[in-house]
Amino acid sequence: MIFKKIIAAFLVLLSVSAFAQENLIVNTHNRKQVSLNGTWHYIIDPYETGFYDYRYKEKGEKDPEAYWNNPEPHGKTDRKEHGYSDDYTIQVPGDWNSQDDVFKYYEGTVWYQRTFDKPKLDKNERVFLYFGAVNYEAHVYLNGKKLGMHKGGFTPFNFEISQEMLEDEGNFLVVKVDNKRYADEVPTLNTDWWNYGGITRDVKLVITPQNFIQQYAIHLEQSQDIEKSIKRKKFNISGYFKLNGPNTSSEEKITIEIPEIGLKEKVESNASEGSFNFDAKKLELWSPENPKLYEVKFTLGENILTDKIGFRKIEVAGKEVLLNGKKIFMRGISIHEEIAPEARRAKNSADADKLLGWARDLNVNMVRLAHYPHNEYMTRAADSLGILVWSEIPVYWTIDFKNEGVLKKAKKQLDEMIIRDQNRASVIIWSVGNETPVSEARTRFMKSLVMHAKEKDNTRLISAALEVGYNRGKNYIDDPLGEYTDIVSVNEYLGWYGDLPHAKVKSKWETAYNKPLFFSETGAGAKGGFHADKETRWSEEFQEWYFEETLKMMENMPENFMGLSPWILVDFRSPKRNNPKFQEGWNRKGLIDNQGNKKKAFFVLKKYYDEKEKEDQE
Ligand code: GCU
Repeated sequence: MIFKKIIAAFLVLLSVSAFAQENLIVNTHNRKQVSLNGTWHYIIDPYETGFYDYRYKEKGEKDPEAYWNNPEPHGKTDRKEHGYSDDYTIQVPGDWNSQDDVFKYYEGTVWYQRTFDKPKLDKNERVFLYFGAVNYEAHVYLNGKKLGMHKGGFTPFNFEISQEMLEDEGNFLVVKVDNKRYADEVPTLNTDWWNYGGITRDVKLVITPQNFIQQYAIHLEQSQDIEKSIKRKKFNISGYFKLNGPNTSSEEKITIEIPEIGLKEKVESNASEGSFNFDAKKLELWSPENPKLYEVKFTLGENILTDKIGFRKIEVAGKEVLLNGKKIFMRGISIHEEIAPEARRAKNSADADKLLGWARDLNVNMVRLAHYPHNEYMTRAADSLGILVWSEIPVYWTIDFKNEGVLKKAKKQLDEMIIRDQNRASVIIWSVGNETPVSEARTRFMKSLVMHAKEKDNTRLISAALEVGYNRGKNYIDDPLGEYTDIVSVNEYLGWYGDLPHAKVKSKWETAYNKPLFFSETGAGAKGGFHADKETRWSEEFQEWYFEETLKMMENMPENFMGLSPWILVDFRSPKRNNPKFQEGWNRKGLIDNQGNKKKAFFVLKKYYDEKEKEDQE
C-alpha cells in the first residue's frame, strides 16, 4: 500500500504546473467521464484571506481557516469566518462577470467549491480531474490536499486523483481562481477584451484504464508529394502517441484502425511512447469543400479510444498557400470567444454553432480565433463544418519580452494549445502573437516561439500578426519577425485609425518577404442601428464605406495576397471602449452588433466573399 502511495505522490508531483502539458490528456470528449459542470459554491476573496494568514504567509495545509478546508463548526462556541453556502452559488462552466453584477468588473480571487462522489470504477481504472480552462491562475485542492496549480486562461490541464479521493461520497473539491492581470503574465496588463474570470470551460472526471494512450497526433506525413499521392490514391500517414501507466511495456502493441477504409495497423511502442508511419489507400482528403472526417480507433490492450480525424496537407509554396496541393484564398473573419447578446464567454457546443453559424452566413472558409485558444467545441465544430482555423496564444501587445520566465509561460500555453488541437484538420495556422512592438528583445522572444512551434508540430503554418512599416510612401511590411513566420500577416486600419476610408484606394502595399500575404485584421466601428451619411463616424454607413474602400484596396494588392480575416464578426466587450453614446464598454467593430443584428457592412463583405468563392470555383 505504502508503495502505491509513493508512486501516487510522485505522479501528483509530476502533475504540478511545470509539467502540466506533459501529462495533459487529449480527446477527453471520447473518453469515459463524469461531468462536474453545474452549480458550485463560491466565496469572493479580494484580500486572499483564504490563502494567506494575517502576516501574508501561505496558510498551512491543515489550517482550519484556509478556504480549501471546511471544518463544520463544532458547537456554538466555535469561531468560523468562512464557509460554502447554497446562498452563494455560481455556474460552471462560465465566466463569473456575466453571472452577477457583483462580478462585472471583478478582478481578484474567487474560491469555487463542490463535492462529488467517487465514481464506480472497474479494476485498476484511474481518475483524472480535468479543466477545459480556468482564467487565469488556478490552485486546486481535493479533501484539503493541494493537487497543484495552473497558469494560463485558455488551455486545459488535469491532475490525477486516483489515490486522493475518499472511498465514497463527499469528496471536497476547491479551486482558487485569480484573474488579476500582471505585467509578467501572458497576456499582460493591457488587452482590448474583457478579462472574464472563472472556471470558464468544462470540468470533468476522466476515467482511464490503468494503461492508456494519453496523447497522440495522427496526420498525413507532410513531406509527401501530395499530388502524386492523390494520383496514386495512396497516402502516407504518420504520427506519435504517448502512453501513461505502470506497465505499458508489457502491453501488446498499439493497433490503429480506420474502419471505413479497412485500415488496421499494429505499431511499435516502448514503455511510454511510440511513433508510426504507414500507407493508407482510398483516403478522402479533408477540405472546406469536403470536410471528410474518419473514425480512427486506437487500441491498447483491451481498451479502445476513438476520435474523428480529417487528413489534409497545408503548405506554403513561394507566394501561395496550398491545401492538398491546391492554392487557396482565405475568406476569413476574426472572432472573440464571446456570446455578445448575453455578454459572456462562449463555453459549449451550442455557442460554437452560433458563432460559426454567423461566420458561415458571411460565406467564410476560415476563422481567426482571436487572441487566445478558444474552447475545444469551436475547433471540433470547425472540423465538421469545413472551416479553416487560425489559433493563437495571447502574446498580445506589450508582453515583457526581456523576461525568460514570461517566455516559458508563453511556450507552455503554446504547448498546451498544440497538444489539445493537433488532431484537428481545420487548424492550419498556429499564431504566436498579435501586434507585438518591434524591438531586439521582442523579435528574439517571438522567433523563439516560432521555432518552438515548428519543433512541436511540422504539419501547420506558423504565423503572428506582424507590424507594418510605413516608409518610402508605402505600407512596407518589413517586420523582422516576417523572416521566420511561414506567412506574412498584418493588421491594417487605414481609414479608421488615421485618415478616412477614401485614402485606402491610393495606398500601396509591399512585403519585404517572398511569402503569402494575409490581412489578419481590418475594420471600423459602428453602433448597430445608428444611421447617418457615410462620413458620420460610428454610423453603419461609415463602416459600410470603410469596407467598400477596403475591398477596393484589396483588389490592388501584390500577387502574394491570399486572404483576410476582418476585425471582427461580432461587437465584443472591452473596458477600453468608453464613448458614452456609441461604445459603453463595447468594441463596435463587429459586422454583427451585440444584439445579434447584422450591420450594413456585413453584406458588403459577404458579397465580396461570394464573388471570391465563384472565382475560386472557375
Ligand atoms: C488591434 C488588436 C485588436 C483590437 C483592434 C481594435 O489590431 O489586434 O485586439 O481589438 O485592433 O483596435 O479594435
